[in-house]
Amino acid sequence: MRTYQLIAPAKVNLLLEVIGSRPDGYHELVMVLQSIDLADELLLRPLAGHQVRLVCDHPQVPQDQSNLAVKAAKLMQSTFPDQASGVEIQLRKQIPIGAGLAGGSTDAAAVLVGLDLMWNLGLTQDELHPLAAKLGSDVPFCISGGTALALGRGEELSPLPDLDRLYAVLAKYRSLAVSTPWAYQTYRQQFQATYAQTAAEQDERRRNGPSVPLLSAIAHRDPVQIGQALHNDLEKVVLPEQSAVAHLRETLAQMPVLGTMMSGSGPTVFALTETREAAQQVATALQLEIPDPDLEVWVTKFIPSGIQIADLAL
Ligand code: C5P
Repeated sequence: MRTYQLIAPAKVNLLLEVIGSRPDGYHELVMVLQSIDLADELLLRPLAGHQVRLVCDHPQVPQDQSNLAVKAAKLMQSTFPDQASGVEIQLRKQIPIGAGLAGGSTDAAAVLVGLDLMWNLGLTQDELHPLAAKLGSDVPFCISGGTALALGRGEELSPLPDLDRLYAVLAKYRSLAVSTPWAYQTYRQQFQATYAQTAAEQDERRRNGPSVPLLSAIAHRDPVQIGQALHNDLEKVVLPEQSAVAHLRETLAQMPVLGTMMSGSGPTVFALTETREAAQQVATALQLEIPDPDLEVWVTKFIPSGIQIADLAL
């Protein structure tokens, strides 16, 4: 068995619309997800026996069973006991934690893809996706990545035309994190009365909601329309709670960008541009406007794929 090195990209939500409740306690969503070139790196090394060991020097990354990458390895071991070995997962964390960028989900996706290779399982994406969905709603998307429409809990994926010419400036206060369960729970408390109740009402909502102009803009690869059609329902609960994030979003909206929005359950805010130069200018202007050492800013590019095998060490 060999050692595998994997690149695990983050995502931003170009759209997150809450449609209603689901019998499983989750929310019925419409999302448009986009991979970006801010990525974690993982090295998977076979170990004798069945031990799963995570090695990561980031102080906020849990190294025990609660880490989603460890859960992914254990799920693969229990699903394929005859082919499984132990594994050491070395994680080089670049994606901020609790940021709305699917950092934990993409690490788990990389472990699924890496162990499929290491154990010679030959799984197709269709076979990997149900395993991924057991780990989290965003994990299936993280495997295939690119630009996709996500329905259901977020695990029903349809690929969309690639938008790999766009750039996103990301901004996040290092000390702030948002719990995804908190964001959805608070949304439910405040907006449950607006939820679509029946399957027909949910369909109607999907057909006439904010995804319509965004999907049309993506089909036409129209950057200006894409920027104007960004949407995230969870902003309604996160921004009133986190005034610094609301201010960050307002500041970015004043700049020469195509559009700006919070990603996922936040608190990362992103702004779209058509060129790397424009993104770099916005990043510099933002740091001048908010000269807070707690504010982290990244210039990223949209990319057309999810987990990539970087290298194969023998
Ligand atoms: O699926 P995942 O573990 O990433 O979801 C984290 C939390 O986000 C869930 O526990 C749930 O509170 C909320 N969630 C939701 N509806 C979704 C996805 C996530 O309510 N479709």
